[in-house]
Amino acid sequence: MSRLLIRNIGLLQTPVGSAPLCGAAQGENRKLRDVCIFVQDGIIIGIYDGGVCPLLAVDREIDARGKLVTPGLVDCHTHLVFGGWRQHEVPLKLQGASYLEILQAGGGILNTLNSTRSASAEQLYERSKGFLNEMLKLGVTTCEIKSGYGLSAKEELKQLEVISMLQKQHKMDIVSTFMAAHAVPPEYKGNGDGYIDRIVEEMLPAAREKAAYCDAFCEEGVFSVAQCRRVLQRAKELGMKLKLHADEIEAIGGAQLAAELGAVSAEHLIATDETGIEALARGKVMADLLPQTSFYLDKPYANARGMVQAGVPVAIASDFNPGSCPSYDLQFAMRLGLLKYKLKPEEILTAVTLNAACSIGLGETLGSVEVGKQADLVIWDAEDLDLVLYRFGVNMAKAVIKKGEIL
Ligand code: NIG
Ligand code: FE
Repeated sequence: MSRLLIRNIGLLQTPVGSAPLCGAAQGENRKLRDVCIFVQDGIIIGIYDGGVCPLLAVDREIDARGKLVTPGLVDCHTHLVFGGWRQHEVPLKLQGASYLEILQAGGGILNTLNSTRSASAEQLYERSKGFLNEMLKLGVTTCEIKSGYGLSAKEELKQLEVISMLQKQHKMDIVSTFMAAHAVPPEYKGNGDGYIDRIVEEMLPAAREKAAYCDAFCEEGVFSVAQCRRVLQRAKELGMKLKLHADEIEAIGGAQLAAELGAVSAEHLIATDETGIEALARGKVMADLLPQTSFYLDKPYANARGMVQAGVPVAIASDFNPGSCPSYDLQFAMRLGLLKYKLKPEEILTAVTLNAACSIGLGETLGSVEVGKQADLVIWDAEDLDLVLYRFGVNMAKAVIKKGEIL
């Protein structure tokens, strides 16, 4: 048995509960002053505020020195298992080539396909582990990882295998998403429907054991609503939960499809209009928003305020990938949430903790600081969240605690 005490917390700020928070509740955080937290075997067993701290025998104590403590951050949308980088695309982009033009010319995701296929599972594992270690330093204690750079049965399973090695061996909680419908691979050039057949008939039955979620890229020139519907319907029959890359560049009905199929989340939603937002609200679909991608693709920002107002629960994630967002800095995504989405600090905290946890099925065990939940915590180098969000280009996490272990 291991017992930890974190004392002298100036402010403990956290959303409350284990279900997605929407509307006004998204902006309601519990704020306790002069707090100490007891942790036993990685689980929070006592939270005391107002300067009260009962005398209990512990193995280890941390002095938070009057600083802010929040739940560990949850990055609910990444593509972090990949080979290579794509820095050579930046000049093309600056000369005016769009994200989809680069993909259609055989670059983009298809470029990363080659570097991922040519890497071994061990190489991908080592590299991904390095990314996760850096994310932990930024306060991210849980993350989702999508496949989608293998695009054949063998290569997608290799990526899923890397994710499951990380799940077993890394300190972070990791959730795995199967995303073979990420692009049409060269073997099926001009035959997207043939590739969808392959996913539905062969790849999904093999992937269901290894991934809790299935995702697809519903986008003009990538996969149509009808193609994504086939993939997700089959995944649902196989007992997988659904996510959808929807309306990232064009609103072709992705948000509506996510609602129709009862997806847990629709992701990106940059181009989603009011009808799409209504569909998400009616379908109780989480909006996983990715502001760093808007920043990096120089696109508009999703209508986060409209979503909160319509009662859609909003999560914010990094979208870390080698093309549209080569950054896993969830703190920067939070800052963009403030400056570009114009969300309130409390709404942003909910978006990167409890709502993000619910978007990957972990709302019961983590995502808030409450008795009975896992002790995943960040001690910030700030007295309040306003200061964390106001600074940028710096890591404001001072100490990160995962399941009661100080990292
Ligand atoms: O979420 N849009 C599709 N997938 C990623 C980008 C993948 C890539 O460019 O490598 C995204 O933006
Ligand atoms: Fe993505």
